[in-house]
Amino acid sequence: MEIFESINELRTSVRSWRREGQIIGFVPTMGNLHDGHLSLIHKARERSDRVVASIFVNPLQFGEGEDFAGYPRTEGRDRDLLVENGCDALFTPAVEELYPEGGMPVTIVEVPQLSNILCGAHRPGHFRGVATVVAKLFNLVEPDLAVFGEKDYQQLVVIRRMVEDLCFPVEIVPAVTGREADGLAMSSRNQYLTDAERSTAPVLFAELCKAVEARRSEKATQEEICRAGHAALRQAGFRPDYFEIRRASDLAEVGQGDRQLVVMAAAWLGRARLIDNIQFSLDNPSG
Ligand code: PAF
Repeated sequence: MEIFESINELRTSVRSWRREGQIIGFVPTMGNLHDGHLSLIHKARERSDRVVASIFVNPLQFGEGEDFAGYPRTEGRDRDLLVENGCDALFTPAVEELYPEGGMPVTIVEVPQLSNILCGAHRPGHFRGVATVVAKLFNLVEPDLAVFGEKDYQQLVVIRRMVEDLCFPVEIVPAVTGREADGLAMSSRNQYLTDAERSTAPVLFAELCKAVEARRSEKATQEEICRAGHAALRQAGFRPDYFEIRRASDLAEVGQGDRQLVVMAAAWLGRARLIDNIQFSLDNPSG
């Protein structure tokens, strides 16, 4: 695996692959890789001749008081995992390489309608940071396709919108959420959980599953279902930020004719903020 810290070296190599007609798949990450990330690498591998991953803990997407400084950084282990899982190149820039203007960009990319709702309402500026860094990374790697996990569903919708609006020639490939045996979505932040919190954490996914069933059976209104989900999380010891059902394509409020939906929740458990979601169809009981 080739490792690049500089933009010029990365571009020189990736462009030479492209000149040879190779398909470039890209997996952006913040490192501290787990099986969920590795499934993104495998998905990119299936579709590409060359797989490029990036590891960059992006300061721009962390708010004041969030865990930027303490975010787990495990580069040596991450490199080994990427090699073992067939990654061809790793881009690990320093903050100054991506943001030479004193660590902050002057130009930013924002998808306002999608960035200030749900997680964005609780993490102001977060999706602006994500969209800006992903736009930069796309301009540097120039991938044919990029793989994003469905666990960060709002991020996926924001990136899809950005790609469409700014005409990036990149196919966005979603990858299903990796889960532990008890249903908990894999996340780097799970390691903030104490043993007791870890045994409570699967309640989040369980409540999302219940909400899907309740919405399909129409035994309660959507508002009642979400209120019940919120209350059940509080009862279990979470501090929920939200528990909502939205239209899957664009996260708008659900309208009369909408059939493809997503139930999403974010909740604090101790010092971990956990997010999860389930996409579902009202037409197909198993979809
Ligand atoms: O999902 C992540 O790990 C990050 O938000 C991303 C897409 C790598 C941008 O920093």
